Amino acid sequence: MNRRRFLKLGAVAAATAALGGGASITEAMSLQVTRQQLPLGVRRRAVQISDTHFSTSVYSIEEAVELVRRERPEYVFHTGDVVSFRRDIPKAKEMLGAISEFAEVYVVPGNHDHWQGLGAEELQKALGDTAEVLGNTSVYLDGFWLAGVEDPFTYHARLDKALEGVDSQPVLLLAHSPQIIGEAAGRVTAVLAGHTHGGQVRLPLLGALWLPLPKEYRRFDYGSFTVSGTVMYVTRGTGTGWLPVRLNCPPEIVSLRL
Ligand SMILES: [Fe+2]
Repeated sequence: MNRRRFLKLGAVAAATAALGGGASITEAMSLQVTRQQLPLGVRRRAVQISDTHFSTSVYSIEEAVELVRRERPEYVFHTGDVVSFRRDIPKAKEMLGAISEFAEVYVVPGNHDHWQGLGAEELQKALGDTAEVLGNTSVYLDGFWLAGVEDPFTYHARLDKALEGVDSQPVLLLAHSPQIIGEAAGRVTAVLAGHTHGGQVRLPLLGALWLPLPKEYRRFDYGSFTVSGTVMYVTRGTGTGWLPVRLNCPPEIVSLRL
């Protein structure tokens, strides 16, 4: 274990102890596989990953890639916050490059990507051929439309533009922040989102201590929701943001049947 990883795990231990949590560090930080059915009816396998962040996280890239591979997905959807900092791009390429050996990879940018000047166009340049970045655009795949918006949290999402040319259902929409549901409900079959990290720190009965969402969207912390017939899955994500701390909120990858 290198010094940086040791210090990060120390921070996790200190925060967990300070909050009185019973979960061990390993439990708090071990990647879980959540299984979810989406109502596209196209009988395809996919995996959602999100909020990889890299330098502000402690998970192992090799382990994450192996967990994704075991699900034998045809598609892998990354719902943003690919990196915390531009210096994380080589790690992002390492992970997405390994995944692109066995699945088609699609990405939408998150707020942290935007804060690093990595909107869809720049993020595509940075990731090269390891992934296809969707920024207010859509693409027709095998039996369904896949649309992707720029980050809603920083108000770069343009759903109308993303859905231009989409002339049939089912439609799967990728968006970093679940607040997209305000305009996507009833217009697409399903939404995949991330951004919240599930709150990262959750207390019994109280739930998430803090969620980076406008008040009217804070109920979309993580899990499956149905709004006006549109199913949305909000993942807790793979990495962590500013602090590598999780409590009662383990990181996950999401194995999907479409
Ligand atoms: Fe994030």
